[in-house]
Amino acid sequence: MALCLYTVAIFMTKIIAFETSCDDTAVAIVDSDGTICSDVIYSQIKEHLEFGGVVPEIGSRAHIEQITFCTKEALSKANLAAKDVDAVAATFAPGLLGPLLVGSQFAKGFALANNKPLIAVHHIEGHILAGYLDKNFPKPPFLSLIVSGGHTALYLCDEEYKIKTIGHTLDDAAGEAFDKIGRKLGLTYPSGKQIDTLASLGDKEKFFFPMPMKDTECFNFSFSGLKTKALTYINQNLVISEQERADFCASFREIICTFLTKKTFNALKKYKVNSLVVGGGVAANSRLRDFLEFEAKKNEINLFLPPLRFCTDNAVMIAKAAHLKFSKKHFTSLKQETFATLDIEKKDVLTS
Ligand code: KG4
Ligand code: ZN
Repeated sequence: MALCLYTVAIFMTKIIAFETSCDDTAVAIVDSDGTICSDVIYSQIKEHLEFGGVVPEIGSRAHIEQITFCTKEALSKANLAAKDVDAVAATFAPGLLGPLLVGSQFAKGFALANNKPLIAVHHIEGHILAGYLDKNFPKPPFLSLIVSGGHTALYLCDEEYKIKTIGHTLDDAAGEAFDKIGRKLGLTYPSGKQIDTLASLGDKEKFFFPMPMKDTECFNFSFSGLKTKALTYINQNLVISEQERADFCASFREIICTFLTKKTFNALKKYKVNSLVVGGGVAANSRLRDFLEFEAKKNEINLFLPPLRFCTDNAVMIAKAAHLKFSKKHFTSLKQETFATLDIEKKDVLTS
């Protein structure tokens, strides 16, 4: 028994992670067996509410104000002191530069002060690996659909966890389309979840939306045509009554979810992979989840959908991606730069 406990003590690794790439100040501590010791998020929604979107300067300031409190709370919930963690991780790219700098520099200070290794994580890698260490997370190779307010893309992850983009949006991200149309409808930012709720009360056949890019075989996405069509209906005063709003949301949600599902399953077929990992805020959409589950069953695809809580931005996903890096000894220098944009193919520049 004593030997057993000793063995566990040697191999269990605790990582504290910081995620501040946009409007959430998130700090989490995750164990190497996947146990979430703590998961703290301060959402800045109310700071940005009156502007209808994220204001980077206000975001940076709010991160600075909150990050120490969130860190203390994460350590206290995990019943740990700073010196008890084994490594320190943070999102270093991509995102809003000011907000990213707050988390990445705080992580450097934490690592330096406690003499712990630093691990820089790419935000998309975090979304893709949000379920890593879960018992039903697929072994690579797998395809990943990441669909959020800032990104909509399909990625192939190989056996070595090397990630390659096989398609991406040519204009807006799907979440951005939901948010922009939601704003026109008078909903508060971010509106994806409210559109999802309203849609459940509506008739999806009432408003016609053409399928985007239907004559192309590539795996890119485009939402600008749908957005223009949606704005036309709104400007023609066709979306006024409560029922019209619900019908409109149902039709708009339907076309976006059908489009995302179609492209994803075409890609699975083309690349002959039988596992699919989905992530990002829009992966919380109830209709999209239903479509993906239905198609996965029909096509015998092993589908991993994170619980709703881990679809939107969080620090648990950064800690999990960091565990994979820790196991490969992919550490980062304290001199590491932070990048507002960085293709996933170049994520290894974060390891130095
Ligand atoms: O991943 P995330 O938290 O942040 C980014 O990295 O962008 O995603 C936020 C996005 C927002 O655009 C929000 O409207 C959307 O996710 N979202 C949803 C739902 N919940 C959040 N979109 C559609 N349906 C939902 N249920
Ligand atoms: Zn995100």
